[in-house]
Amino acid sequence: MKVLVIGSGGREHALVWKLAQSTRVDKIYCCPGNAGISEIAECIDISPKDHNGLVNFVKYEWIDLTVVGPEEPLAHGIVDAFEREGLRIVGPTKDAAQIEASKVFAKDFMKRYGIPTAEYRVFTSYLHAEEYIRMKGAPIVIKADGLAAGKGVVVAKTVDEAIEALRRIMKEKVFGKAGERVVVEEALEGEEASYLVFTDGEYILPMVSSQDHKRVFDNDEGPNTGGMGAYSPAPVVTPEVERKIMEKIMKPAIKGMRKEGLKYKGILYAGLMIRDNEPYVLEFNCRFGDPETQPIMMRMKSDLLEVFLAITEESLSKTSLQWRPDASVCVVAASGGYPGKYEKGKPIEGLDEVKKMEDVVVFHAGTSYDNGRLITAGGRVLGVTALGRDIKEARDRAYEAIEKIYFEGIHYRRDIAHRALK
Ligand code: AMP
Ligand code: GLY
Repeated sequence: MKVLVIGSGGREHALVWKLAQSTRVDKIYCCPGNAGISEIAECIDISPKDHNGLVNFVKYEWIDLTVVGPEEPLAHGIVDAFEREGLRIVGPTKDAAQIEASKVFAKDFMKRYGIPTAEYRVFTSYLHAEEYIRMKGAPIVIKADGLAAGKGVVVAKTVDEAIEALRRIMKEKVFGKAGERVVVEEALEGEEASYLVFTDGEYILPMVSSQDHKRVFDNDEGPNTGGMGAYSPAPVVTPEVERKIMEKIMKPAIKGMRKEGLKYKGILYAGLMIRDNEPYVLEFNCRFGDPETQPIMMRMKSDLLEVFLAITEESLSKTSLQWRPDASVCVVAASGGYPGKYEKGKPIEGLDEVKKMEDVVVFHAGTSYDNGRLITAGGRVLGVTALGRDIKEARDRAYEAIEKIYFEGIHYRRDIAHRALK
């Protein structure tokens, strides 16, 4: 079979790496891909935004199955465009992808189906929102309604900080239309975890739990990023918590989608806050997480292609998943300055040394080739991912590997997985 993966990050590299292990996969394409992906797939420079271009490419190359990495093409209806042409694709339709693309939709949806989440109000007027914030006091969370590349959420410690965030979103319109509505919600305390499932709209197959590290510096300091590292499993997701996530969150969400006439097919990702063994949804995402997918794919034993096919054929209930008992840890190497301004084009060294290590895979994110030389080409550059018998061994191995890698300005957190080792 021929498979296309859309996207260019570490998540997509992990998906391509895993798909390449399937005996039924003959050829993988990636649009647009990156340097690491180009070693196992043919990278074609078509933008994930160019739905027509992608449809035509898939028709021309007789590609059997397409998998979408990032949220934007899903939110803009790439699945609808493919399905109109009778092409097989994994992911929710535009309407179903609103669960990530509109925080207002997601919150109202959770309320309708009794899914545990922070108390909230929606505002279209700056004045009313400001009044509400003053009434509620801090800490308080301000969220722009639409997609804002992970930057639309501010957990404000003071009322002034909350109002400043509100002003930027609603008055300065820094996220444009995405900020026409805001959600103001209660700040939840606890420990965060990511929980991802495969679903064909009826049946739900959970993946192993994981935990991301959103802040750029150690001890969760500094601004939010796309994710600086992740590990799996997340000890906070005990079997009891996992059962609650399935019963109180995943099942009602997929059933709720059906009730609204939206069959949700693909990956559903719940960003959770766990407090006193109770899970609350911070956000839903309509896709795989990045970097969570790197440690999750390292642990997956089953054939990923079979799972994707079962999703599109709505036969997931006949599939089961096997996972390695090992733990895995991914440490992200980023360009200095990320998530603010950073330089690109720095030569990357040391990967040959890491290749010799067992149970370590370096997934590429922002990398490219310049005259055959591997260089940095983005904020998050590499996801150094290791397996181990437990989190400690996986972490030690990931750090041993990342220490062999060098590019000018390299930055990575030294405390990935610290919470799991407390
Ligand atoms: P979101 O994009 O909604 O996941 O928000 C990004 C990050 O903001 C989350 O991963 C949390 O760290 C934080 N966050 C979001 N909502 C809340 C909340 N209600 N209480 C505390 N932290 C939150
Ligand atoms: N790791 C966070 C995300 O994928 O949204």
